[in-house]
Amino acid sequence: MKKILITGGAGFIGSHVVRLFVNTYPDYQIVNLDKLTYAGNLENLKDIENNPNYKFVKGDITDADFINNLFKQEKFDTVIHLAAESHVDRSISNPLEFVVTNVIGTVNLLNAAKQAWGCSKDKPVPADKRFYHISTDEVYGALGDEGMFTEETPYDPHSPYSASKASSDHFVRAYFDTYNLPVVISNCSNNYGPNHFPEKLIPLCIHNIKNNKPLPIYGKGENVRDWLYVVDHARAIDVILHNAKVGSTYNIGGHNEWKNIDVIRLLCKIMDKKLGRAEGENEKLITFVKDRAGHDLRYAIDSTKLQNDLGWKPSLQFEEGLEKTVDWYLANEEWLSHVTSGNYQKYYEQQYVTR
Ligand code: NAD
Ligand code: TYD
Repeated sequence: MKKILITGGAGFIGSHVVRLFVNTYPDYQIVNLDKLTYAGNLENLKDIENNPNYKFVKGDITDADFINNLFKQEKFDTVIHLAAESHVDRSISNPLEFVVTNVIGTVNLLNAAKQAWGCSKDKPVPADKRFYHISTDEVYGALGDEGMFTEETPYDPHSPYSASKASSDHFVRAYFDTYNLPVVISNCSNNYGPNHFPEKLIPLCIHNIKNNKPLPIYGKGENVRDWLYVVDHARAIDVILHNAKVGSTYNIGGHNEWKNIDVIRLLCKIMDKKLGRAEGENEKLITFVKDRAGHDLRYAIDSTKLQNDLGWKPSLQFEEGLEKTVDWYLANEEWLSHVTSGNYQKYYEQQYVTR
């Protein structure tokens, strides 16, 4: 039996992690802590919200007193930390928000866990506790045409988002080295799938194609990302939590590199068929726009360590996963209209805040 705190469980990846753990481990107690920012959405968890092994707590990881009290009350033995500001473009317009949430919020959680678990360099690392920090491949910087990020690649973040995630990763390792806090970190490539907020490339373009709006491609669309279906990331998190050695790091990726322009051409093709439009119709919406400042050229993850040590591999090919994703968005218009309407958060706070 475990008592797990999942932070950011109402967000895109977090909601898939919460669902997987609630359904797979009925004897675990799962507490989902989320501030419900614009990116957090309890509608993502409607199917499991009444499960007896699940509880939602609305709260802010930047509030140290609140976090310390929660650890005292709930006596967690495991933390899976996903809560973060996650969008690179937002980090370019408001870097400080990313420092506060991603760095200070993470350090608050590390302090609370260290205190609750009595960790110090004078004592052995507690074997029955885990602080699992979820991070990104963007901390490694950008690749040229060749090569892949391994767990040994030096950190070289370029955007305020990746700088804040790199900083939080360093703090997590520092708490292992300095206080024997039992930490694990994974760095994953770009995720896609259901419940992705429609500001990121794939869900934004699905939304825009449906509404016949321009598809904004930064620069020439030559930048490469390594795409992984979000449920495969959640499966990797499950495997790593249960099997990784304390203090270890794992890269997670799909070996699935695509230029942005090719992703969008494929999406247009899939949606020509799904929407009954003439072949090539959606591609006319592609619009090249000013490039993102400091835009990383290419990410590619080498996840050999995870595959060899722990036997994880991705289950879905990109074409199949993308089609599933399109089907989900077309079938969930209500979800889309809620998350894209300004009243959304207020509506959900009224519904859930008193639970
Ligand atoms: P998201 O933006 O969809 O969700 C973030 C969640 O955190 C939201 O539910 C939000 O309400 C919550 N949150 C934000 N600030 C908070 C605060 N102060 N207190 C409590 N909750 C707060 O993000 P995501 O894409 O699901 O990413 C989750 C994690 O995975 C992040 O740490 C991100 O860096 C990492 N990651 C994401 C990707 C990706 O492709 N999306 C890839 C690798 C790693
Ligand atoms: P995004 O989904 O924001 O993820 P990340 O920046 O974390 O990789 O962007 C994916 C790629 O798509 C990235 O190279 C930037 C590009 N992009 C566009 O070309 N147009 C857009 O409107 C967005 C949001 C992203």
